[in-house]
Amino acid sequence: MSISKDKILSALPSRYGFEVKVFDTADSTNNAAKRECSYTPTLVAAAAQTLGRGRHGKSFFSPTGGIYMSLVLPKADFFELATVRAAVAVCRVIERFSPDKTEIKWVNDIFSDGRKVSGILCELVEDTVIIGIGININRNEFPDEISDTAGAVKLENTDRETVIASIAAEIMSLSELCAEKLLAEYKSRLFILGKTLEYTADGEKHSGVAVDINGQGNLIVRENGIFRTLNSGEISLGSKSFAAKE
Ligand code: BTN
Repeated sequence: MSISKDKILSALPSRYGFEVKVFDTADSTNNAAKRECSYTPTLVAAAAQTLGRGRHGKSFFSPTGGIYMSLVLPKADFFELATVRAAVAVCRVIERFSPDKTEIKWVNDIFSDGRKVSGILCELVEDTVIIGIGININRNEFPDEISDTAGAVKLENTDRETVIASIAAEIMSLSELCAEKLLAEYKSRLFILGKTLEYTADGEKHSGVAVDINGQGNLIVRENGIFRTLNSGEISLGSKSFAAKE
């Protein structure tokens, strides 16, 4: 189940000028992208990863059959709201090719039917931003450690190359959307607003209500009447939290 570079190129609008590199197996497409670290927009895709990486030093389950791709883009043009743009693009493209509906858990985990189906890892390397995207496709079985939380999307009448090219094109075309509209769509897809979350701040565990996203994509939470801005980090929704609306 190799990935075809020619199929990606034929589905990718040439105006974006992407160089495309494909691997049967990569350690991590983000690592491969870093090694390339080209200043031309580059799309790296692999059929499988041996060391797929997630946020916060976690691994990302990456067997054959899923989508593993990284874009290398100039930081000057793509740094601002890169994670927000990538999350919206992934949701739009999944919904174009799948009957499954998607939602976002801040910052950029993509959920469907209550399970995480896709993760995004953005990294800055010199003057470039690397946007790494992994999507679980047509799969029911996961390793024990993630079997309670992971899910997959069903793809219909398409192939991985078309989805990969469509995500790259969607990220590029979203850069033409103004920040207000982009953030409005991102917020409309978030399922955490109004819910009680657990998060760590200043080394301590806290619990607060997610109230909004600011213009930089940061999450505003309210705890005992005090507002706090979270700019990265992990949040969790305890089982009681889904019911805990303010
Ligand atoms: C997360 O869930 O925390 C982010 C997961 C990001 C996974 C993708 S798969 C393609 C790219 N290569 C990696 O090693 N990670 C990203």
